[in-house]
Amino acid sequence: MVDLKVEIAPGLLLKNPILTASGTFGYGREYAPYFDISKLGAIISKGLSLKPKTGNPGVRITETACGMLNAIGLENIGVECFLADELPILRKLGAVVIVNIFGNNQDDYAALAAKLDGVAGIAGLEINISCPNVKAGGIQFGTDPQSAAKLVAAVRQETSLPLITKLSPNVTDIVEIAKAVEEAGSNTLSLINTLMGMAIDLEQKKPILGNVTGGLSGPAIKPVALRMVYQVVQAVSIPVIGIGGIVNTRDALEFLLAGATAIEVGTASFINPQSASEMVDGVENHLEELGCDRVTDFIGSLGKV
Ligand SMILES: Cc1cc2nc3c(=O)[nH]c(=O)nc-3n(C[C@H](O)[C@H](O)[C@H](O)COP(=O)(O)O)c2cc1C
Repeated sequence: MVDLKVEIAPGLLLKNPILTASGTFGYGREYAPYFDISKLGAIISKGLSLKPKTGNPGVRITETACGMLNAIGLENIGVECFLADELPILRKLGAVVIVNIFGNNQDDYAALAAKLDGVAGIAGLEINISCPNVKAGGIQFGTDPQSAAKLVAAVRQETSLPLITKLSPNVTDIVEIAKAVEEAGSNTLSLINTLMGMAIDLEQKKPILGNVTGGLSGPAIKPVALRMVYQVVQAVSIPVIGIGGIVNTRDALEFLLAGATAIEVGTASFINPQSASEMVDGVENHLEELGCDRVTDFIGSLGKV
């Protein structure tokens, strides 16, 4: 038996380091027909705003070499509806729930944090300051260290829930942003969100996505994500959650080796809805074969054979 438990924030102990990434696992219950979702370390909800949001007009998704571009535009049912209709189902299913939040401005983020503070069944918040597909709410906070820090500090004031700040790769120096939000009181960092990209329809001579640009995800971004996780882990003293192109156990293990305390499975769930579940078993089996009793001994052991 391998001990897979990881502490991703003070007091937030998860049974294993495999989580699902926001926006790629619905509200959670959509995947319950495929496997027991309580098996995961945690699930992270689709990004929630104070009010429901319809998102961008289509086309919103297109496949690319080794990945996909999306420009959903943060469509969601709104926090009230999530609390009334989705959270009770997730609690019944035994899932550990982390809520991903975003707003149009700092006050929206703070109000969401206040609303979710102390709600039974919510283990933590992931603050999205990195969505590339909307004009307001997201990336404008995540590309400037000062605005990112101000926003995190405002959210911190409203809640005692563990705070994970989700960083954008669409910056010159992700380490600078990571340090700023650590300083501002974030307990944990998660990275990366999607890389801004574009696809063109040659025959029609027009952009494929209605939004023109979209966020690139999937195996194509894994090397970039791995590099950024590695660099951020060296620079901060809070836990880092790795995200980006993780589609199998080997990918998950590579992020753990690079120092990620946990990982999130995103686009992989669209290819195989059982991906995250298979990674829980895969990581356990690999560590057992290595004779490693605790995943925490494996995390960050890059270079130590
Ligand atoms: C269709 C889609 C919707 C997404 N929606 C959100 C979202 O609402 N909030 C968020 O923080 N990230 C969102 N993301 C980003 C993912 O959580 C993840 O950071 C990104 O896809 C990289 O991981 P991957 O390569 O494993 O998919 C979305 C990604 C996709 C593909």
